[in-house]
Amino acid sequence: MNYRHAFHAGNPADVMKHAALARVLAYLGRKDTPYRVLDTHAGAGLYDLDGASAQRTGEAEAGIEAVLAATLPDPAAALLAPYLDAVRALRSSGRRLYPGSPALALALTRPQDQLLLCELHKDERAKLEKRIGADPRAKGRVKVLAQDGWQALSAHLPPRERRGLVLVDPPFEEPGEFQRMVAGLEAAHRRFATGILMLWYPIKDLRAVDAFRRDVARLGLPKTLKVELDFATVRSLDTLSGSGLIIVNPPFTLADELKTILNAIAPLLARDGKGRARVGWLTAAG
Ligand SMILES: C[S@@+](CC[C@H](N)C(=O)[O-])C[C@H]1O[C@@H](n2cnc3c(N)ncnc32)[C@H](O)[C@@H]1O
Repeated sequence: MNYRHAFHAGNPADVMKHAALARVLAYLGRKDTPYRVLDTHAGAGLYDLDGASAQRTGEAEAGIEAVLAATLPDPAAALLAPYLDAVRALRSSGRRLYPGSPALALALTRPQDQLLLCELHKDERAKLEKRIGADPRAKGRVKVLAQDGWQALSAHLPPRERRGLVLVDPPFEEPGEFQRMVAGLEAAHRRFATGILMLWYPIKDLRAVDAFRRDVARLGLPKTLKVELDFATVRSLDTLSGSGLIIVNPPFTLADELKTILNAIAPLLARDGKGRARVGWLTAAG
């Protein structure tokens, strides 16, 4: 386990994933009834973009920095507001902090909502506990677990609230991650068929991505949305040229919202200004 998200925090893939996460949480927050977020691969929670790791790659410059610096057209600006406001709120201290999925979820959930955060790496988990667990808003409603995120899909689903989101965002540093994603999705859906299930994947090796899309479609889960963003036209097996999300049971507004958002920010996130977004159904309502 060598992966450290601090090197990649706020990059184009993070922006896409976190913009979608924020829209899902905004939707879940429309009803007063509590819900739960299970983040199976939580990371360190909060990142310093002026820290040594982020500075070494500079990946946030073509990501969140490009989006924050742009004047976005409405309605994309309005749809992105909860996410970007949460990012800006963290900068009020003068430091360029960036929220990972746990910090974003903490900012966008309500006192009645629960967060369950799994992180296997000891040091990353210690940071997560310090940065998120210590926040007064987390009191009594956030649990950080030293549990394998794949096992958590069986151990913690369905949530007591019977409403909520499962985010699966593994590091893809070990072989077999796409296969674990498919098996994890099937297990999560078996236990929590009505939940919103969101899985992130890298677009590097197109054959692997093609096989993954086919395997997910073959599961035949109703209402499976595929969202992809290309941010580099030059492809190689070592470099991220885009990223994707599989979202099962998306809020009914999400596909249109993400089309609007991603069409507005794709040119900002692309190295050559030619970013391209694709939002479509792998399987429709069943
Ligand atoms: C891509 S990062 C997560 C980023 C985070 N979701 C975000 O959006 O800010 C993946 C994290 O998963 C952790 N990890 C790797 N394998 C794991 C496993 N089997 N269970 C739980 N965490 C794991 C890594 O240590 C790493 O911190």
